Amino acid sequence: MANDGMPQEKAVLDALRTVKDPDLHKDIVALNFVKDLKIKDGRVSFTLELTTPACPVKKDMEQWAREAVLKVSGVREVQIQMTSSVSRSTLAAEKQSVAGIKNILAVGSGKGGVGKTTVAVNLSIALAQKGAAVGLMDADIYGPNVPLMMGIAGRPHAIHDRIQTLSNYGVSVMSMGFLTGEDTPLIWRGPMLHNVIQQFIRQVDWGELDYLLIDLPPGTGDVQLSLTQTVPLMGAVVVSTPQDVALQDARKAILMFRQVRVDILGIVENMSYFQCPKCNERTHIFSHGGGATTAANYGVPFLGEVPLDVSLREGGDEGKPIVAADPKAPAAQAFAQIAEKVAAQVSIANLNSSTMIIE
Ligand SMILES: Nc1ncnc2c1ncn2[C@@H]1O[C@H](COP(=O)(O)OP(=O)(O)OP(=O)(O)O)[C@@H](O)[C@H]1O
Ligand SMILES: [Mg+2]
Repeated sequence: MANDGMPQEKAVLDALRTVKDPDLHKDIVALNFVKDLKIKDGRVSFTLELTTPACPVKKDMEQWAREAVLKVSGVREVQIQMTSSVSRSTLAAEKQSVAGIKNILAVGSGKGGVGKTTVAVNLSIALAQKGAAVGLMDADIYGPNVPLMMGIAGRPHAIHDRIQTLSNYGVSVMSMGFLTGEDTPLIWRGPMLHNVIQQFIRQVDWGELDYLLIDLPPGTGDVQLSLTQTVPLMGAVVVSTPQDVALQDARKAILMFRQVRVDILGIVENMSYFQCPKCNERTHIFSHGGGATTAANYGVPFLGEVPLDVSLREGGDEGKPIVAADPKAPAAQAFAQIAEKVAAQVSIANLNSSTMIIE
């Protein structure tokens, strides 16, 4: 007897195989997203475990899965539990991974002042808002801006030789600014800088993190090169503004990361346009489209545009990042979408590297 009109596991799984993850380009059964499948009296229940809580198509995937299973004959009801488990970078494992941290990402740019710290801060908070465990390390030892922008003041303490992070907006943070004060100039040479970064990674108690973002200092010199080699980075987000000079420096940053074999997760174009708060008209103050063109030329993803917004700057200065302070503002929504794209790129890179190892 094949069955008594009741749906069978194979039929349900075959139906679920028609649902593809649009970023990972594989079906959700092959990706091992389907867990705890139970079928009883025409009632089907299962868990869909995605690779990030920041999945841009979480709702769609749930709906596609439900529709697919409802088509199986005999199915009367479908219950889906949505969950996620962030994939761990296998690339990081090769380069001395850090226990507890699944993915370490750098936010860099060739040029100074294009908004790296602003992007790193808002992306971290956006990822945390979506339910990910997130840390933010300020690698700008000479000019740490993260404490101010994250609205954190104070000194970290140590427990059993492990330096404890300070946190705000759901993000665990470490910065030289906590240790020296933000206005103390530091004149350190290469080896010492290397040691500080090592300590920030290995002696800080980051706990369990899905994503650790690293805010890099500006430039593509020795300091940045040494940083990218000291830390087991799985990828980098490159920030640029639309002007040619900034894009030229962004290209340098892409080449620097490539030189040390760090994946480029994509380019963010900051200060892309000004949206008039009165009439909503967009003005492209520094020309337009350069970030997307540069991304296309270098074969890297374009992650999105962030508008010029006075409240973004004010929020930064006051330690109230726009993503937390005014999540509905266009700039905040842009960051939220960019965060989803970054998370998707991390999942794609991890899937590709793990299948490369298996195959
Ligand atoms: N989209 C934006 N709209 C308005 N102001 C912005 C925007 N992005 C960044 N800013 C402001 O521009 C200034 C520089 O930004 P930020 O410090 O993030 O740049 P950075 O690339 O980290 O600089 P540095 O190279 O010095 O580390 C800050 O005052 C910030 O608030
Ligand atoms: Mg900065």
